[in-house]
Amino acid sequence: MRKLLPQFLKPEALMRYIGIMDAIADAHFASQWENEDRVLVFPLAKKYTFLIACRLFLSIEDPSHVSKFEAPFQLLAAGIISLPIDLPGTPFNRAIKASNFIRRELLKIIKQRKVDLADGKASPTQDILSHMLLTTDEDGQFMTEMDIANKILGLLIGGHDTASATCTFIVKYLEELPHIYELVYKEQMDIANSKAPGERLSWEDIQKMRYSWNVACEVLRLAPPLQGAFREAINDFIFNGFSIPKGWKLYWSANSTHRNPECFPEPLKFDPTRFEGKGPAPYTFVPFGGGPRTCPGKEYARLEILVFMHNIVRRFKWKKLVGDEKIIVNPMPMPAKGLPVLLFPHKA
Ligand code: HEM
Repeated sequence: MRKLLPQFLKPEALMRYIGIMDAIADAHFASQWENEDRVLVFPLAKKYTFLIACRLFLSIEDPSHVSKFEAPFQLLAAGIISLPIDLPGTPFNRAIKASNFIRRELLKIIKQRKVDLADGKASPTQDILSHMLLTTDEDGQFMTEMDIANKILGLLIGGHDTASATCTFIVKYLEELPHIYELVYKEQMDIANSKAPGERLSWEDIQKMRYSWNVACEVLRLAPPLQGAFREAINDFIFNGFSIPKGWKLYWSANSTHRNPECFPEPLKFDPTRFEGKGPAPYTFVPFGGGPRTCPGKEYARLEILVFMHNIVRRFKWKKLVGDEKIIVNPMPMPAKGLPVLLFPHKA
């Protein structure tokens, strides 16, 4: 996977995705937000990142085809970190059933793609599915269909649930901090006003979204979608006076590192300027992990998050409908009621 993904996530490829992401965002906001005066942000943000993943990973464009996967993906995500009790009604059991359904659907898509590739109706480079079907491992072996289905399943989860949690928290923080909203709005409107009507966002536009990305980073610091991950000690070592034997399982926590005042003074203060200049010290800001297993989807996520910010602030201001909404973590953080907001479109 680490050999294959860079093909799909290299800068030249990412540049091509920006226009597609912007077109998807445009259609999504037009159909799901613009004719509503109140919306639930979390499910809509999920829809947005899922539409993009389905389009870019699998070339699925038809929203009705995409919506078939939505509910099972939710069940699967809710069962990833759960007690492994496989009895009817448990989150674990529901997740297994949902993943079996998704795998079956993915296998149909994989088989059809094989036919389309053979007939010249699909291109070898059109998406990650084609790449997987045509890439061999070190021994010249192709992946089996089930292997590909499993890998795509993992990517679809890793590649959409995380970014949708971030988009949701951006909406939450921008509402709570109007002075930050104004600065993001100004940056995005300067970009919007520099473009012809209907012209899509470009790589150059993304590079101009510096302040917006600093805001997104501050959101990723305070509400990292992944709380941390597991590691195994490959050698005996001593950390903070504790001796950790080789082979022990460790958990590194993004959340506690991000709230450590030695790394981030006044850690609970929302302050995007922390990311100006050189930004935080290495290995202190770790929403995407660090080292050899750093998230390979980081740049892709940056693009879809910035495209989301551009499209939402250009259209609306909003007001939260639940004052102090509780945050639950399952396994990503999310507002307990889905972040209901009242929308106020900007006057033309
Ligand atoms: C805001 C969005 C995202 C966040 C916060 C995030 C975070 C992370 C983190 C913390 C890890 C574990 C790193 C480690 O163990 O050191 C990871 C791994 C991974 N992520 Fe992401 N991710 C995001 C988006 C994406 C996207 C969009 C994709 C795919 C396009 C993706 C694909 C992966 C893969 C394949 C791995 C496993 C890498 C490996 O184990 O070598 N992620 N991600």
